[in-house]
Amino acid sequence: ITDPLVLFMPSGKRGRFPIGTPVIDAARQLGVYVESVCGGRATCGRCQIEVQEGNFAKHKIISSNDHISPKGPKEERYERVRGLAEGRRLSCSATIQGDLVVDIPQDTVINAQVVRKAATDRVIERNPAVQLCFVEVDQPDMHKPLGDLDRLKLMLERDWGWEDLLVSQHIIPQVQQILRKGEWGVTAAIHRDLETSRPTMIGLWPGLKNEAYGIACDIGSTTIAMHLVSLLSGRIVASSGTSNPQIRFGEDLMSRVSYVMMNPDGREAMTKAVREAVNTLIGKVCEEGGVDRHDILDAVFVANPIMHHLFLGIDPTELGQAPFALAVSGAVHTWASEIDLDVNEGARIYLLPCIAGHVGADAAAATLSEGPYRQDKMMLLVDVGTNAEIILGNGARVVAASSPTGPAFEGAEISSGQRAAPGAIERVRIDPETLEPKYHVIGVEKWSDEEGFEEAAKATGVTGICGSAIIEVVAEMYLAGIISEDGVIDGALAARSPRIFQNGRTFSYLLRDGEPRITVTQNDIRAIQLAKAALYAGIKLLMEKQGVETVDMIRFAGAFGTFIDPKYAMVLGLIPDCDLSEVKAVGNAAGTGALMALLNRDHRREIEQEVSRIEKIETALEPHFQQLFIDAMAMPNKVDPFPKLSE
Ligand code: FES
Repeated sequence: ITDPLVLFMPSGKRGRFPIGTPVIDAARQLGVYVESVCGGRATCGRCQIEVQEGNFAKHKIISSNDHISPKGPKEERYERVRGLAEGRRLSCSATIQGDLVVDIPQDTVINAQVVRKAATDRVIERNPAVQLCFVEVDQPDMHKPLGDLDRLKLMLERDWGWEDLLVSQHIIPQVQQILRKGEWGVTAAIHRDLETSRPTMIGLWPGLKNEAYGIACDIGSTTIAMHLVSLLSGRIVASSGTSNPQIRFGEDLMSRVSYVMMNPDGREAMTKAVREAVNTLIGKVCEEGGVDRHDILDAVFVANPIMHHLFLGIDPTELGQAPFALAVSGAVHTWASEIDLDVNEGARIYLLPCIAGHVGADAAAATLSEGPYRQDKMMLLVDVGTNAEIILGNGARVVAASSPTGPAFEGAEISSGQRAAPGAIERVRIDPETLEPKYHVIGVEKWSDEEGFEEAAKATGVTGICGSAIIEVVAEMYLAGIISEDGVIDGALAARSPRIFQNGRTFSYLLRDGEPRITVTQNDIRAIQLAKAALYAGIKLLMEKQGVETVDMIRFAGAFGTFIDPKYAMVLGLIPDCDLSEVKAVGNAAGTGALMALLNRDHRREIEQEVSRIEKIETALEPHFQQLFIDAMAMPNKVDPFPKLSE
């Protein structure tokens, strides 16, 4: 007779095992990660599974309970003392008695934090770099003068298979005290993120320690965002963000590099500022989650190259000029204490690799999250900030570039532009007949043409136009015939509508006649044209490198992408022609990628490999880029057709 077949979900891994095999052993043999702290003593409860009923391999499982051993005394004791949810079993105690479908519960489901456009939920399977291991250590014996630490290491090897274990120096002076306090039962935290690296004991606690945390952090030039996560359950305990205090040294990346170049202490001051902000944010998420910051044992950071360098204390000057040399492009593995993080003394840090001098670890994280290299179809992934990071590819080949879009898309350099905040106009429609606008303001429910709008807008005021509305207003002006294909405001229309008025040598459009007056000037339109031409030219360059005329799917990462309407992005020619249903905003994809790398060390290997395969294109060095840029100035542009737009 053949052995029972066991199928693990959600990974789908399966294998045959003799009757009586503990489910946890079967999982391990198949490479399915099941947490365990107590080492199968049925005390930690971390190895829980759910036994499913279901169909597989032609077997209909009538009742799985017939195919798994009944609860034994240890498991019953655990259930009595700690409680076990209905349907849950301890996989260290439950043994295989017949065909089984086993569900490994995953607490981490990310619903991309996209407010308006639903993105698919993603489940991250866990396999963290840090593991907690409980052991009972032999008491000292005068006849066997082996040190306390050495006996502890022996037990970690015997019970958990940790051979050749390194021990973090800070633990050694405390070993004797911890062993005695725990009455010879202790929990060690073992870190290993590379299969080839030696495991290291990074923490030690008396008794059974049943919780460990990690942080996933995205350091942006404007904001820093962080998740606090349980490494054992994968649950996101708290998430928060703060503004990057480096703003006081310079609004954008280049001005921060200049600050370093001009001030002898500039680098140090900015490194200190960002590290302090990260520490403050750690305090905030820990307070929210009711977690002691010293229980944080692992941290993953992603950032653009300049933020990455400043966070690590590296002078970013080289990144400010060609050839944009990174001090380090590969993943960085280090200790939290090396970068002044106030977390557990032994905590580890991992920074994802940077793709190129302009395409950072944040873009690598977004690539990990969206996985163009996992697709058959051609995926375009764009993260628009003051620089647009552009990734294009599929399973066969991925290319990447960045393009200097400037800050216009974020509302800077636009006469009435502002960041997205209450009071900012975020949606615009223009009637092509009357040329009258209506708009929607963040924080106000009514549209501007609805009764009671002014009353409703009193609380926030109407303060300016944010990035999404700038795209819309220019696109609507184009659709209403107010601006030509070349982006010139048609002055002849001034005779038809008071909305068009002369403003020096050019014309402007009056979007709001109130306090304050909000207008769209010819200069505003130029700024948007330059930004969109830079983005489109970057994309086009990559499409040429890939030898494709169209892309199959487009993913917008970052806050900007969350709010723009893909239709308007296409009307302006920000992005190439694509089925509108295949254009999606994916929220903070860099943060999601950081979380994936935190919870599963296999994802670290995955993105390191992919980044080494990605072909980097430096737009500044491509003579052809200028021409593409000029061609892309028109709306949508004069060279490429947009058939999907008219559908
Ligand atoms: Fe701890 Fe099963 S491994 S309860």
